[in-house]
Amino acid sequence: MNYLFNPLPHSGINNIIKAKNEYYYTSDNKRYIDLESGIWCASIGHNHNSINKIIHDQLNSLSHISKRVLPSDIDKIAEKLLNLADMQGKTMFLNTGSEAIEFSMILAKLIHKKAKVISFEDNYVSAYGQATQIDEKINIASCLKCEKEECNKACKVLKDKIDKNAIFIFDPFCFSRLVLLPPQKLIKRIEREIKLNNGILIVDEITTGMGRTGKWFGYNHFGIKPDMIVLGKSLGNGYPVSAVLIDEFIIKKVEKTEFGYYQSHQNDPMGCKIAEGVIKEIQENGLIDVSKELGISLLSKLKQELYDMNCVEEIRGIGLLIGIQISKNIIVEEIYHKLVKKGVIIGISIKYNMLNIFPPYTINPIMIPKVVESIKTTIFEIEQGKKISKLSNLNNYKA
Ligand SMILES: Cc1ncc(COP(=O)(O)O)c(C=O)c1O
Repeated sequence: MNYLFNPLPHSGINNIIKAKNEYYYTSDNKRYIDLESGIWCASIGHNHNSINKIIHDQLNSLSHISKRVLPSDIDKIAEKLLNLADMQGKTMFLNTGSEAIEFSMILAKLIHKKAKVISFEDNYVSAYGQATQIDEKINIASCLKCEKEECNKACKVLKDKIDKNAIFIFDPFCFSRLVLLPPQKLIKRIEREIKLNNGILIVDEITTGMGRTGKWFGYNHFGIKPDMIVLGKSLGNGYPVSAVLIDEFIIKKVEKTEFGYYQSHQNDPMGCKIAEGVIKEIQENGLIDVSKELGISLLSKLKQELYDMNCVEEIRGIGLLIGIQISKNIIVEEIYHKLVKKGVIIGISIKYNMLNIFPPYTINPIMIPKVVESIKTTIFEIEQGKKISKLSNLNNYKA
């Protein structure tokens, strides 16, 4: 690539011309299985027929409109999302995840101007804007191993950190690809402290929402009630639509101010209709349960096949959000490039040396053991090359 500015390491594949469900196809007739759903967006599969039809129909009817003349069917889509989240309030549709996070911060800061903004260490919440300026980042490493039944008041992790009116942005599991599983007691405790301090709890569901973790939203695993919920990525299955679900207590406060907000594409019919189509597909095809069940079988297969390997330190996951922690003696880019040669596109975090698997929920289940086998053999080949270990139980692999 000579002219395209794309400051990220490249896979070396530059001739993809088509995607369908879990596959990419190239101009020279190669096929790659996409274990990342694009960038965790195409969760109901690339190039989805019914979503394509919605796009086509909207293009031929109404894709964009002045925000002063919005049609009422969009209101019903906003309500659908609120119902899924069991929230009384309102929904704003935007385009990207970062934009929606920024909007949630604008609202939160409108209510509590000088509030401290808190999140967990390693949470990635936005590419830009206010959410990148977090005042307090809480490290939960010790909580991940904590065996106490309840969070102790004296525990240093939260002690004196949640101030009056604090704004907490919580990404339930993604943690910049680390895939961490915080204990419920910790999250309930944070919720309690935020409420006691008259603060605002924003849940960033951009990666974890719309069924990725085996429930509609990641926060559903904790039994908490957020004040704002931010959705993106899977909401549009690859089309840029995001949303902020806003509890009515915030709406009431905002409505008492002079606040106005206007962006060209807020609440555009195209994005709203696509989101409605994604919800319908998930509901009609039971894709939340599929994500949960496939996630369980993928995770157990990975543990069964990879845990003996020398460089595999830990395998963590929930639903179809999975991370494999690789030890420092192998760099994940090496695994990535070897897998690409075998037709497998896996997710990686170079910073944390993690492999990630976030496939479409619609991946053909027969691909699960095949994919695991490819990962295993690839790691084994690298380990052997570096004389890291010898695996006795490696199955015969046919490329
Ligand atoms: C947890 C999380 N929050 C927010 C974002 C920002 O979303 P976007 O890239 O659509 O702006 C991302 C993007 O990867 C994310 O993973």
